[in-house]
Amino acid sequence: MISCILLAAGAGKRMQCEANKIFLRLGKYSVLQWNLQHMADVPDLSEVIIVVADGEEEAIQNEVASLTNLPWQPRLVIGGAERQDSVLAGTKATSETADIVLVHDGARPMARAALFTAVAEAAQQHGAAVAAVPVVDTIKQVRDDQTVVQTLRRSELYAVQTPQGFRRSWLLEAQEYAKKTQFVGTDDVSLVEHQGKPVYIVNSDYTNCKLTTPADIVKAKQYLGVTEPMMRV
Ligand code: CTP
Ligand code: MG
Repeated sequence: MISCILLAAGAGKRMQCEANKIFLRLGKYSVLQWNLQHMADVPDLSEVIIVVADGEEEAIQNEVASLTNLPWQPRLVIGGAERQDSVLAGTKATSETADIVLVHDGARPMARAALFTAVAEAAQQHGAAVAAVPVVDTIKQVRDDQTVVQTLRRSELYAVQTPQGFRRSWLLEAQEYAKKTQFVGTDDVSLVEHQGKPVYIVNSDYTNCKLTTPADIVKAKQYLGVTEPMMRV
């Protein structure tokens, strides 16, 4: 059984809109709703936990309630100050019967059902897996004084996205070890890497980008096929 934690407890500061970016409307659905619509097409996904900011429960519940075709009823839990705290809160709410747990950024509404399935299958097989794309830019490691240490070999570099997937036992152990060693990762599978365990890369595509700044909204509308009436100039 697959359980998915959908993270929506951020503030969306860099998006510079009044409300959490999760409520932004892109055509017929909000960012949150696009996520749920794509997840509804994932076979074997039986549990969805939405991690929400304190005070936004009702607004999120309304967004969920207006979707009538969901095969499961998402559960809501309150998130924490940092993303990793929110993931912890979500993990605690997953059922013991879940053998695979997926973690997904609510800010990535372009992730398709096939990607969730591919990450879940890779996690089942390898223990931990993450959606990723080869980097297109040349990446340099730089010192504090703005001088280059080295140019990294681009063919070995991937930019990771979500979903990130785990055998539930692996996720629980990784979180326990991170707590014990006070490790804070910038993504979820890095907690597994911190234990010296392998993480598998699942090839994703560039449309699964994170909505971070206003410029990303233009791309999102294009990728989601949202058409808008021509503006008169
Ligand atoms: N997130 C979360 N809990 C936090 C911080 C982030 O659940 N304490 C979620 C966000 O809702 C988002 C995802 O993690 O779906 C990725 O984070 P990011 O893009 O940084 O979103 P925000 O933190 O909301 O945006 P910003 O950093 O610009 O405030
Ligand atoms: Mg953030």
